Amino acid sequence: MASEVQADYLNELNPPQREGVVNTEGPTMLIAGAGSGKTRVLTYRIVHLMRHHNVDPFNIMALTFTNKAAREMRDRIEKIVGNEAKNLYMGTFHSVFARILRSEASKLGYPSNFTIYDTDDSKTLIKQIVKEKNLDDKLYKANVVYNRISAAKNRLVSWRDYINNPIYAEDDASNMRPEMGKLYQTYVTRCFNAGAMDFDDLLFNTNVLFQEHPDELNKYQHRFHY
Ligand SMILES: Nc1ncnc2c1ncn2[C@@H]1O[C@H](COP(=O)(O)OP(=O)(O)OP(=O)(O)O)[C@@H](O)[C@H]1O
Ligand SMILES: [Mg+2]
Repeated sequence: MASEVQADYLNELNPPQREGVVNTEGPTMLIAGAGSGKTRVLTYRIVHLMRHHNVDPFNIMALTFTNKAAREMRDRIEKIVGNEAKNLYMGTFHSVFARILRSEASKLGYPSNFTIYDTDDSKTLIKQIVKEKNLDDKLYKANVVYNRISAAKNRLVSWRDYINNPIYAEDDASNMRPEMGKLYQTYVTRCFNAGAMDFDDLLFNTNVLFQEHPDELNKYQHRFHY
C-alpha cells in the first residue's frame, strides 16, 4: 500500500529530479532553469522524507524567499501527505526566523511579543529621528537612510561596527551625510526600546542569536535534521 503511494509520486519525476528526491542524506545542490521543476523536487523530497523515511515533519525546515513559493510548496505537500504538512517548519526566511525569534526573544532582550515594523513603520521612525536631530531631510531622505541601514544589517554590520568603520564614515562624509552612523545607532536603539524588530532585524538578530548562544544553535541543529 505504502509503496504504491511512493511509486505514485516518484513516477511524476524525470531521472535527474528523482535523484534529487531519493538522495536524502547530506547536502544536495540543484541547479536548473526557470520552470524546469525545481520546486517539484523540493516538494517531493520533503514528501519522500516523510513517507519513505518516516521523518517527523517537526524535524524538517524549508525556507523560501517569497510567500508565494512557501504557500505553493505547502499546498502541494498537503495534497500528497495531508494534514501532517501543518507540522513542517516551512516559510520564508523572514517568517521562519520570526518564529524562532519569538520563542528565544528574551535571550536577546526583546519581549516575546515583539512588534515587527514594516517598511513604512521604519521610514516613519527614521523621519522622526531626522527631524529630532535637526538634520536636513533633503540630505537625509528616509528612503536613503533606510536603505543604508538595511544594507548594513544585511551585511551583518551592527551600528557599532558601522560607526567604527572608517570606510563607511568616509563614504557618508563624501555624500554629505556624516551623521549616518549616529542615525543608525539611534534607529536601532529606538526600535529596541520599543520592543520592535524591522524586517532586516529578523535576519540580523537570528544570526546574533546563533552566534552568541551556541546552546541555541545546537538545539536547532539537532531539531532540524533536514
Ligand atoms: N517531471 C515532471 N513532469 C511533469 N510536470 C512537471 C515535472 N516537473 C515539473 N513539472 C511541472 O512543471 C511546472 C513547473 O515546475 P516547478 O514549479 O517545480 O518549476 P521551478 O523550476 O520551481 O519553476 P520556477 O523557476 O518558476 O520556480 C509545474 O506545473 C510542475 O508541476
Ligand atoms: Mg520554483
